[in-house]
Parts: sequence; structure tokens; C-alpha cells
Amino acid sequence: MQKAKSVRFVLHNQNHTVTPSDVAPETTLLEYLRDYEHMKGTKYMCLEGGCGACVVSVTTKHPVTKRTITFAVNSCLVSVYSCEGWHIQTVDGIGNNQIGYHPVQKVLAEFNGTQCGFCSPGMVMNMYALYESNNNLTMKEVETSFGGNMCRCTGYRPILTAFKSLAKDADKEILGEYPDIEDLNVCDTANCQRICQTMCKRKSVSTALHLSSSNSKWFKVFSINEIFDVLKANPNKSYQLVAGNTARGVYHDFNGHPKLYIDITSVKNLLVDVVTADNLMVGANKSLTEAMELFQNTAETNGFDYLAKLADHIKLVAHVPVRNIGTLAGNLSIKHERNEFPSDIFLIFETVGAKMTIVNANKTEKVRDLLSYLTLDMKNKVIKNFILPKLSKSYKYQSYKIMPRAQNAHAMVNAGFLLKLDEHEVVQSIRIVYGGINSSFVHATKAEKYLVGKSIFDNNTLQGAFKALDEELQPDDALPEPSPLFRKKLAIALFYKFVLSITPSNKVSPENKSGGQLLQRPVSTGVQDFQTNQSLYPLTEAIPKLEALGQTSGEIEYISDLPNSVDQLFACFVTAKAPANYTIANIDTSEALKEDGVISFFGAKDILGPNSFVPSNTNYPEGFIPPGLHLVPEEVFCSGTVKYYFQPVGIIVAKTQELAERAADLVKVTYNPSTKKPLLTVREVLAANDPNRVSEEASMKATSKGNDVKHIIKGRYDMTPQYHYHMETQICCVIPNEGNLDIYPGTQWMDIIQTSVASILKIKENRINIKVKRVGGAFGAKITRNAQVACAAALAAHKLQKPVKMRLSFTANMDVVGKRYQTASDYEVGLNDKGEIQYLNDKFYFDYATGGNEPIIAFCIPAISSSYKHDTWDITGYYTNTDNAPGVWMRAPGHANVVAMSETIMEHIALEMGKPALEIRLANMSQNENKKLIQFINELRQTSDYDNRLKAAEEFNKTNRWMKKGLSLVPMTFPFVYVGGLNSIVAIYAGDGSVAVSHGGIEIGQGINTKVAQVCAYALKIPLNMVSVKASNNLVSPNNTLTGASLTSECVCYATLKACEILTARMKPVKDKMKNPTWEELVKECQKEYVELVATYMYSPNEPPQAYDIYGVCITEVEVDILTGIHQITRVDILEDTGTSMSPLIDIGQVEGAFIIGLGLWTTEKIVLDKEGRLLTNRTWNYKIPCALDIPIDFRVRFPKNNPNSVGVLNSKTTGEPALCLACSIPCAIRQAVASARSAADPKASKWYPFSGPSDVENTFLNSLNDCKQYTL
Ligand SMILES: Cc1cc2nc3c(=O)[nH]c(=O)nc-3n(C[C@H](O)[C@H](O)[C@H](O)COP(=O)(O)OP(=O)(O)OC[C@H]3O[C@@H](n4cnc5c(N)ncnc54)[C@H](O)[C@@H]3O)c2cc1C
Ligand code: FES
Ligand code: FES
Repeated sequence: MQKAKSVRFVLHNQNHTVTPSDVAPETTLLEYLRDYEHMKGTKYMCLEGGCGACVVSVTTKHPVTKRTITFAVNSCLVSVYSCEGWHIQTVDGIGNNQIGYHPVQKVLAEFNGTQCGFCSPGMVMNMYALYESNNNLTMKEVETSFGGNMCRCTGYRPILTAFKSLAKDADKEILGEYPDIEDLNVCDTANCQRICQTMCKRKSVSTALHLSSSNSKWFKVFSINEIFDVLKANPNKSYQLVAGNTARGVYHDFNGHPKLYIDITSVKNLLVDVVTADNLMVGANKSLTEAMELFQNTAETNGFDYLAKLADHIKLVAHVPVRNIGTLAGNLSIKHERNEFPSDIFLIFETVGAKMTIVNANKTEKVRDLLSYLTLDMKNKVIKNFILPKLSKSYKYQSYKIMPRAQNAHAMVNAGFLLKLDEHEVVQSIRIVYGGINSSFVHATKAEKYLVGKSIFDNNTLQGAFKALDEELQPDDALPEPSPLFRKKLAIALFYKFVLSITPSNKVSPENKSGGQLLQRPVSTGVQDFQTNQSLYPLTEAIPKLEALGQTSGEIEYISDLPNSVDQLFACFVTAKAPANYTIANIDTSEALKEDGVISFFGAKDILGPNSFVPSNTNYPEGFIPPGLHLVPEEVFCSGTVKYYFQPVGIIVAKTQELAERAADLVKVTYNPSTKKPLLTVREVLAANDPNRVSEEASMKATSKGNDVKHIIKGRYDMTPQYHYHMETQICCVIPNEGNLDIYPGTQWMDIIQTSVASILKIKENRINIKVKRVGGAFGAKITRNAQVACAAALAAHKLQKPVKMRLSFTANMDVVGKRYQTASDYEVGLNDKGEIQYLNDKFYFDYATGGNEPIIAFCIPAISSSYKHDTWDITGYYTNTDNAPGVWMRAPGHANVVAMSETIMEHIALEMGKPALEIRLANMSQNENKKLIQFINELRQTSDYDNRLKAAEEFNKTNRWMKKGLSLVPMTFPFVYVGGLNSIVAIYAGDGSVAVSHGGIEIGQGINTKVAQVCAYALKIPLNMVSVKASNNLVSPNNTLTGASLTSECVCYATLKACEILTARMKPVKDKMKNPTWEELVKECQKEYVELVATYMYSPNEPPQAYDIYGVCITEVEVDILTGIHQITRVDILEDTGTSMSPLIDIGQVEGAFIIGLGLWTTEKIVLDKEGRLLTNRTWNYKIPCALDIPIDFRVRFPKNNPNSVGVLNSKTTGEPALCLACSIPCAIRQAVASARSAADPKASKWYPFSGPSDVENTFLNSLNDCKQYTL
């Protein structure tokens, strides 16, 4: 066959040809799209297949069936040379402002499925590919297909609603104006109006390739023989067989940088499947998606029914785009190279006794079992196929995968069981396989041997098996994986679950039965209940974000989308790979600077002014910014003593981002060690008893003490840090411009960027021009932290007089930037018999770590007690200084921590005293001071049928030993205060009367621009489409305070309202002279009379709006599988007081999104450090935010009606943060469920267990007092 020297594919209906002289073989499709074709619609965050921002759609002909297939892929994993013959569609191609928007783009926008919008292109393309591939989609299929697409802002509900509206069985209520999926089918060529990327008019090309660059070669082959031909012709060269190329999403260094890439995706022998009399032979490189389909179909054949369960297990592997191209053999190869990898494919295949055919270099084939494969030298060998046996009805198969969240997570432990019973229920054979135990553990051989010949449905047999398992299961200590104790106990519990699942009904007690089941999740639903006031429209109108279509089409620009200039440079931090207290001995940059294209290194010595990105000389008036900012200097680059592991030491500047990152690793920093052990937790600091590390910040003193103390309860509460997980990582672009610096920072606060850059460069502030259109998520991390990145990039740009872009990788972002404050508290509470608090002493600690510039304790103390009578409460807040990266504000930075603290105390009292938690809460409220809150509680209690559901849960718990339900009702009073210095400028253009606004807030996804436009249109009495909101900049909004603390939208709306009032007043004399002019006529006339048609206004705390409280109530119901520790949230009802919402859809989005961040905080997100302080959970692989199937199954949000806020802006209340505080109802509900399990396990055990970090799977399992002695039939 003739070998092509270039790769050809079609991108948006345009032919593209790629050759190694232009594009290196290592180049990914994402890099090609963004860096070579400058198509910026496709976004990226993790570059490891973990976030979904980069998803694109591919249509091609299947190499074997020749069927046209369309599927989603992660463009960050796919090599551009794998795209031979593909037709690729990205978000830029399917619809835009010019050609019209695609229905998928439209529904996502109209259902308000965007906030910061950074995830939106990936969401759109995942859905696009889904419905291009299947015109018969159900809501269930839609809902389960988004496990690979992360969204930190919306909480997924509106995204799922939007996309489910396109399903066949869509609920008519959500269908709206959209046709069902059949009508959207592109292959109706006669009537098709849409841009078509399908194969209807195109022929697929698939050609053998032989491409060479100076470093490596790329081959595309069509047969196994050709693989060996390539290997023979290039002996001793490192190589990779490229199938899906997804393994490097798991291990970044997998395969390293081989010299040969052999694309095997069109090798038919690796793709075919054959059913024989005894076996199913599956092509080794079948994709996981295809394998699932094959297994589902073949399950109908006698002897293969177990394959349906294999397919179900594969559904839990990775997510749709990875499964679409990731292959069986690729997965097994990861297990082969890294035995510790808890491969699900290995697990299920080994459980059923699958075999594999391996071809070696002299083309002989050998059938092997999977265990012997693990130790086989696979050099110059190819896996050809897997052989799955037929199994008679006497076999029982089951497998389990326990994950930290519902989808897209590797197994903490996975387990497979294959049991053969004779007619007397005696075990003839059994295979027990576990993953996630240690790198060498596969079979529980002791238990297997023990069980053969025994009757399995017998409690003595089971105890013997548990004993054998207990002896042989020896999980390793492999942080950040869960503890060995948990993994061992879980593995045993899974065996018990398996046995329960197959035990005949008459042999298992009724309360144990449900232990054999798994939690079943139906399609989720949501209710959003709010009121609008038509007479005020567009104010209070329920509209999606103004930028929504731009976001769903990828048209709007983020900072990384700014075009690179010809002399563009890129920067990357060099970080300290040493624990705190070590001192830098030497920085050797010689190896890094030798690399072609590496320009320079800059460190602390190169900084021209003070080495701090928090300038100390700023002088803000009181009330201008939250108190206490700018307290301590923070180094841009470490100047000597390392403050925390991964502290930046300097930056490498290079011609490409990839080169800068690679060269940064080549910088050798040596250190003088320290004998001081880093202190990493609040508890370690307290134990060290070092007064320099613990400081009191604020307190609330008791004014009285009750004298009816009948019970004393002591407890502790510990909360671990949380990572912000903004999808756009920290970024800044700096362009020198005629002696000035044009800075495009991804910041929530322009002013700190201006002052800090001016300070470190010793230049005047007026030489700095800052412009921020939007940032791709922030959640507090970009208030002060972006200044460090901006200073570093500005230093390089200033010194080199070249444009410098600096974007932190996901891992660097996690390593370098601090997190939500870890919190600890010790409390003692005295109570009377009713549970009324007689006194409460609580000392709590927030860890500011090596920072201190974002204090919050004084600010949040009122939130601790506002929902309750608190004259007897004595509370002191301290901050601690551990040796971690500076603690950083994160959405509801203190309030979320402390509301959970007081609600923990309420739950503790209730469980300890054996009283309903709501009774305790109400007993401690004041009928007068908490009147409104009590009214809301009663309202939600009634509308959600709380009392009956609570009773039903109690009944359920009595009759189920291993499945438990829990309900919790949590109230909230969120004290809100204004701070100021936020302005708005409104300009009216005389030509057509259109209006532009620019303000000092930053659009971080919260919808500030939409609210501002609504207010402006309302105030000027013009249609909304006459108003456009421009980028924020420091010329029109100098000296403005930060965007955060839920206050900016209101302040900026106020400033806009006032600016509009100024304009209206100026225009009035002209208007009075005219007879009912139209707006356009009036504006023209004003221009003629030289009326100044631009006005600016600054909100300050001296303005009339006053501080107020925001009330909220949340009821959460959960189901917990005690034998796995997994829970699901069956229903959440939130009632949140929003006053008269200025923009109800935006506010619903804020409430839902905040709540789901709280869900992550309390259930899935866990920061793990090693002893030196090195962050171990710094990848999407091991830090898990909630995904689409983790959200409440039934999610109802309601805003009280006729509820104006007379002291706020335009009668509204803010929504950004409060709902996050309500999320603590989730761990409270889990604890109610676990309490029932604890009582069942040991009636003497306390129902309460200390609150320590998230109620994740491990915490829930271990605290349920699982003990295999209780595992009976
Ligand atoms: C985000 C993400 C989540 C994931 N989650 C899970 C999970 O939960 N559970 C799980 O088990 N896995 C998980 N995976 C792993 C995933 O299943 C594998 O990445 C995938 O199956 C690898 O297949 P591939 O075709 O992409 O392999 P590639 O990356 O193309 O190749 C990997 C290796 O396999 C070798 N190879 C490929 N085919 C052959 C062959 N026929 N003969 C010999 N060698 C061969 C290659 O030389 C290469 O060294 C996840 C991956 C990602 C990216
Ligand atoms: S950037 Fe590709 S999945 Fe995250
Ligand atoms: S809108 Fe999804 S991450 Fe911001």
C-alpha cells in the first residue's frame, strides 16, 4: 500500500493536511485547533481527560463495519495524527452569530445552563455528538452521559434540564419550543438546513501513513503484520501503539516520548469479534463504548448473560468521551505497566476467567491468562484479542466499583465475584478478585480455597470466609488513596453484599435483604419556584445571561483566547520542591536555559521594588474593602526560606507554554534542610503549643448563663480545605505598550493588580492599563491570588519588553494557590432537659496558613449564632499559621465554615439527647428575633411534607439493616454587609440611542452584567437589547474594591441606577420641551443641546442601602448504603430569601451552584498532603468535585413570594454565597442515617461521631461501625 506523508482530515467542512515538518507528532488535536488554527472555541483546563472542557465531535467510518459513527472525544488526549480520515466538528463550527446557532447551543443558553461559560463549549459538543450518534435518546441516556464534563458554577441541574429537553421522552413541560431529537437529525438531507458534518456527502479517507519528524516517526498501519514490520525496520526504538491515546490521561508520563508512534486504530484484526460455541472473542482494541454495546447484545445469547453485568461495570469506567476511544487492550496495558492501577477491565475479565491472545514478533500467537500476562515482557508483542468464556446458569457473577463520586473516578476498591454452585448450593468453584488493595494483589486465594465444598448460604461459612479475607487482604498505605483499614473492611463488605445479592429470599432475614442491592438513581428533576413583576420588566424578568449564546458557541473570549503576537512569550513558575523552613542554597538554571527557545529565568533578585504582590502602602478608606486586607507582605518569589511546599521560586520564560513548563522542571534548586517539621493542620499547630502560630481575631461574649444544666456535651469539629476548581486556571497576559503595560489579568480585583505590579516594578500606577472582560470562574481564588501571577508575568514582560502570557496548569494551580480555610473547633455545651442551651463555650480556629491577607473571622462571627438565641454563647475565633500555602477566601469563606459548626452542635445535641434535631433547633430559637426564619421553616416543613417523610425514613430504617435514610432540616441567617468603592459608567450614543455600561465589578459567572443591563434598561425605560455591558477597566473604574462577598452585583447595580438617574435628570429639561419623544428622538435632541450623555457614579457604604440578613432553610433527604459508604441525595428543598429578585434565573443559578459547591465540600472533595506538605491530590484524577449524577435527584428551589427587602438595592437580596451554607444539611442528613446504623451495630455506641472533614465514602463507611461479625444472612 502506498504510504501517505501527511494526515488529512476535515474540520468544519474544510480539508486540513498536517505534516510533521509543520506539526510535531506529539501534538494533540486541542493544540492543533487552538495554536495552529486559532480556533478558540474549544477550551481546556486539565489536559488529562478529566474535565471535559475540550470535548469535540468526530464523525468517521468504522474501520470494520464501515458504518458512519459520530462520537465525542477529549481533544486534549487525541493526537492530531490520529485524525486521519476524520470529520471533526468543534463548537466554533456548529453555529454562531453569523450562521445561526445550533439547537444544542440554544437550549443550553435558554435554560440558563451557563454561568462563567468555560465548561459550556465542552458541554455543547458532548451533547452534539450524543445526538448526532443516536436519534432515539432518552432522558436517562442524556443524564448519564455527562460524567466527563465538569461544571463548577451551575450545579449541573440547568445543563441537564436543557439537554434532556432534546430527548425522546422529554417532559413536555421542559420541552418548550424545541423539537424532539428526531427533528434535529442531520441526515435528513432533503430538508437539512444545518451545517452538516456527517458523512452524507463525504467519503472517508483512511490511508497508511509514514511520517517522520526530527524526533519521532508516526505510522498508521492496517494489519498486525504491518505493526511488526515497522518494529523490525526500527529495531530498539522506543515505541507506542496508539489506540485511543488516553493512557496518558491517567499517567502523564505513560510511554514517555517514544521514537515511534504506530496508529493501530484501523487494524481490523484488533477490532473484530467472533462468537464461537464456547467463547466470545473480542478484538483487543475495541473501544470501551463498543465493548459495552457488544456485551449488551451478546448477553442475549445463551451462556453469555453475565456480559450484561460486564457492560454495566464498564459504564462506570472513565466517561463517555474516554470510553469512545479508549480501548480494552490500552486499559490492560496500563495495568501491565503499573500494577497498582485499579483497572476495571482487568478486574472484570479476570473474574470471569478471560484469556488473551498475544502475538509476538515472529507472528506466532499464544493464548494466555491475564495473571501470566502481568509479568510477561510485552516488548515487540501485540494483544490480539480477549476470549470470554460461556458460563452456565450455575455460575453467579457480580462486580462492584466503589468510587468517591458517582461517575468518572477510579475505584477506591473494585471487586469481582464468580461463583459456581451445585444443586445443593455448595460451592464448586469461586473466583474472588479485588483491585485497589496493593500492586500485587489480585485473587483472594485463601478465601477461594476455603469456600470450595462449603455451603455458601450459611453464617458459619461466611464468617470463615471473612476471616480468610481479613488475613489475606493487606492494603498498602498509598496516599492519597483511602486508608488501608477502610479498603480492607470495604473489600470484605463487598463480598458480603455479593452473597446477599444471590441468597434466596427464604434464606435471608428481611432486614438484611436490601444490603444485597445497590442504590438506584432515577432521572433527576428540578423545580424552580419564583415570582416576577411584569410592571418592572426587564427588572425581575427571568432571563438567561446576556452572554449565554456567546458562551455556548465559544464566541466570547477568555484571556487564554487573546491572540498571540509574533514575539509572544510564555511563562511558568519554578516551584520549591521542598518542605517549609528549608532555605534555598542555589538556583541552577543552566540546563533549562540551554534549551532552544527558552529565553530567561527571573527570581526574587530580579524584582525591582518590594518582593510582595500585596502592596503594603495602599491606603484605603474605612469601609472601602473588607477589613484587614493588605496586612502582610506576600512574596512573589521565595527569597530564601521556603514558606510552603511548591512556593514559587521564579519563572522560566520561553517561546511556547509547553517549553516553559518543561524547562521549569530542569531548573535545579538546592536547599539547606531544616530540622523544623512542617505543621500542616490546625490540630498539629495546637499540639505544638507555639503562641506565635495561634492568634485571637474576634470573639462574641456570653451576656448570661442558664442555671438549668442537666447535660453537658463536648465535641470537636474539623473541616478540611477545599480547592476552588475554577475552570479557567490563574492566568495573566501582559503586553508592553509604549512605555505602559497593558494587562489582561484573570482577576476579581483590578486594583490589586495595578498597585502590586506598579509596586514590584517601581513604576507609576498610571502606566498600567487593565482590562477584564470576564474570568472563567473564580470563587474567591482570584481576589488576591491572581496578583502573584500578574506580577510574575509583568516582571518578565517589563524586563524583556515582549508580551508574556502566564497560565498555570491545573496541577500548578492546585499546588501553588491556597484553599478554603481548614477549620477546627472545640465546644462544650450545657443543656436543660429540653435541649435548650444554658451555656456554650466554643473556641474555633481558621487556618490562614502562611497568609493572613484575607481575614474573615471577625466578619463571620455573627453568622455562627444569628439563627439562634445566643446570649449564653461564648465564642472565640482564632487564626492559626500552618506551613501551607496561604489560606484563600472561597465562596462564603467564613460563613460556610461556621454555619456548619453551629449546625454540627445542634445535631450533636439532638443525637446525644435522643431528640429530633428540629426540636433542638426550634428550642434554641427566639420567637421574636428569629421570627422570619421560623416562619420560613414552617413553610418549607409543610410544602416539603417534612414530618411525614421523616416518619417514613424512621420506619424504613427499622426494617433495613444495611440501607438507611436520613433527613435533615438546616436553617440559616446570613448577615450581609456592604463594602464599597464600586462604580459604574453609563454612556448613551446619540446615533441610535443605544447604551453602553462599564463597571468596576468583574463578570465571574455570577451574572453581574445581566443584572446591570436589566437595571440600566429599567432605569432609562428602554428595551434590554439597547444596553450593552463592556469590559471592566481601570480607566473608568479606578480604585474599585474587589468582586466578592456576594456584594458586587448589588453595589454595581446601585451605581448604575444612580448614573442612570443622573442622565435622566440631565435629559429632563430637553424632554420637557418635547412632546412624547421616543427614546431615540430624545437622545438626538440632547446631543444637539450638548447634554453630556455619559455619567458615572460610585457606590460607597455611605449610600442608603443598609446591611440585612438573608434567611434560608434547607431540607435534605439521603439514602446511605452502609455496606459501601455510598450515599445518594434523594431530595433537596431550599427556601431562600432573595427579597425581590432582580433577575430570578440568575439568582436560581447562584443558589443551585453554591449549594452544589457545598455538596462537594461536604461529600467528595478531599485535600491530601504528605508529611512534608506536598499536595498529593493535585489532579482531576484524585481531586473530585461533584459531577452530574451526584446532585440531588429531586432538587427544588423556592424564593418566598411578596417578600421585598426594603433596605437593599431595588428591594433585592444577594444570592452568591448563602446557599453554600445550607449545604451542611447534607452531612447532617448522612449522619442521621449513619446514626441508625450505629445503633443497630451497637446499641451502646454513641449515635454521634466527631465531624472531621467531608462525609465521604470512607468516613461514612467507617463511622457506620461496619463489622463483619454482624454480616449475617
Ligand atoms: C479521565 C480518565 C478516567 C479513567 N477512568 C478509568 C477507570 O475508572 N477505570 C479504569 O479501569 N480505567 C480508567 N481509565 C483508563 C482508560 O480506560 C484507559 O486510558 C484506556 O482504556 C486506554 O486505552 P487506549 O486505547 O486509549 O490506550 P493508549 O493510550 O492508546 O495505549 C496505552 C498503552 O497500551 C498499549 N497498547 C494498546 N493496544 C495494544 C495492543 N493491542 N497490544 C499491546 N499493547 C497495546 C500502547 O502501546 C500503550 O502503551 C481512565 C482514563 C482516563 C483518561
Ligand atoms: S482539558 Fe481535556 S478533559 Fe480537561
Ligand atoms: S459555567 Fe460551568 S464551569 Fe462555569
